[in-house]
Amino acid sequence: MSIPFVEPFRIKVVEPIKMTTREERLKILERAHNNLFNIRAEDVFIDFLTDSGTGAMSDRQWSALMQGDESYAGARSYFHFEKAVQEVMGFPYVLPTHQGRGAEGMLFQTLVKPGQMVPNNRHFDTTQANLLDVGAQPVDLAVDEAQDAQALLPFKGNMDLQKLEDFIRRVGAENIPIGMMTITNNSAAGQPVAMDNIRQTAEIYHKYGIPFFVDAARFGENAWFIKTRDPLYKDKSVREIVLEMFSYADGCTMSAKKDAIVNIGGFIAFRDEALKQKIGQRLIIHEGFLTYGGLAGRDLEAMAVGLYEGTDEDYLAYREAHTRYLGEKLAKAGLHVYQPIGGHAVYVDAGKSLPYIPAAQFPGVALANWFYLEGGVRTVEIGSLMFEHKDPETGETLLAPIELVRFAIPRRVYTRSHLDYVGEVAAEVVKHAHEIRGLQVTWAPELLRHFMAKLEWV
Ligand code: F0G
Repeated sequence: MSIPFVEPFRIKVVEPIKMTTREERLKILERAHNNLFNIRAEDVFIDFLTDSGTGAMSDRQWSALMQGDESYAGARSYFHFEKAVQEVMGFPYVLPTHQGRGAEGMLFQTLVKPGQMVPNNRHFDTTQANLLDVGAQPVDLAVDEAQDAQALLPFKGNMDLQKLEDFIRRVGAENIPIGMMTITNNSAAGQPVAMDNIRQTAEIYHKYGIPFFVDAARFGENAWFIKTRDPLYKDKSVREIVLEMFSYADGCTMSAKKDAIVNIGGFIAFRDEALKQKIGQRLIIHEGFLTYGGLAGRDLEAMAVGLYEGTDEDYLAYREAHTRYLGEKLAKAGLHVYQPIGGHAVYVDAGKSLPYIPAAQFPGVALANWFYLEGGVRTVEIGSLMFEHKDPETGETLLAPIELVRFAIPRRVYTRSHLDYVGEVAAEVVKHAHEIRGLQVTWAPELLRHFMAKLEWV
């Protein structure tokens, strides 16, 4: 008998969560200036804000923590971690960082100069901000289908290869110190990238002498989608697919808080030892010595175990089915769910679900706030509050290509009945859809404004 969608684990430790009343939540949201980043996690019942660092570690990871070697230099834990990166990803060299954005910062500050440009299928907010921070320009070149929330295509996270090559010719390879690719494509609804597309992207970068780095946060889920959606790979193991994906790249930045299922940690992996040494000098100033990079030895142990668990096929099969189950519930409630449903999250097209709220009034924030009000469910807008920016050439204000709300699912944390509950909240939100208004920003910082912005209902 083939096993249907069941959690491939049982629960050994529990963490109580608490329900609040709608009245309480109304006050909480007001005090938070209508920004869900500003509320206390204790006031949330189901937290889908992010799948980052919110996963449940396994008994093996917790016991590995006890074996952390906390030596400053040359700790045993570093070598366990290095071996896991070598075995799972195939990169010979690795530097730990405190999390993904630490890896991005170290890489970009070392290789990227002001005025230069870095292409990606789509940058996540921290890679975008890390590039802007060094005076460079992030450029997104995903396929057009990524913006189409209904096209049922298997790999909508892909790079548009024609756009990429045209872009490199237009601006000149000398202005592109590094080329990126994000798998899965978080800012494009968590859509996977095809193996072909990774290979061809690498070929284009390499043809112009541009080093190719993968933003690997959800590499395990990407490999699972390749296995289940590309018939050429159905008989390959996820571990083989992962090795092939990375074989085309010169390195990767990794937020281990995603597919290595740890609460904190990240790294940069390389093929070139000289580059590792060069970035290592900066690492020592900002993150820590080469063999711990801002982490404790115990964190390195947990990451090492997590890299294997995040590529386990029973786990990945469950993970995909679990996420899809939530997506189907939300669609059934009447929301416009981005299709196909991604690996780590369900994305709701808030622009379509609340068509009378203009993009400039953040329909995604409005919908997210109503999920909190109705059921204590916290999600995040991935739309114009997060991504609005000025066109560097014309100075014109550009809104996000699509107004999404992301329901990101922590790994191994919520059961199916939690998802059923969120489905019921969705039905309640849809029932009140006509009452939902847009919002406007009353205060915001310049970079990464969505984290700290204050908003009011219009
Ligand atoms: N790259 C991608 C694709 C990400 O999704 C993230 C984080 C990072 C890099 C940065 O990693 O958080 O460890 O510094 N994404 C989280 C999210 C925050 O909610 O999607 P980090």
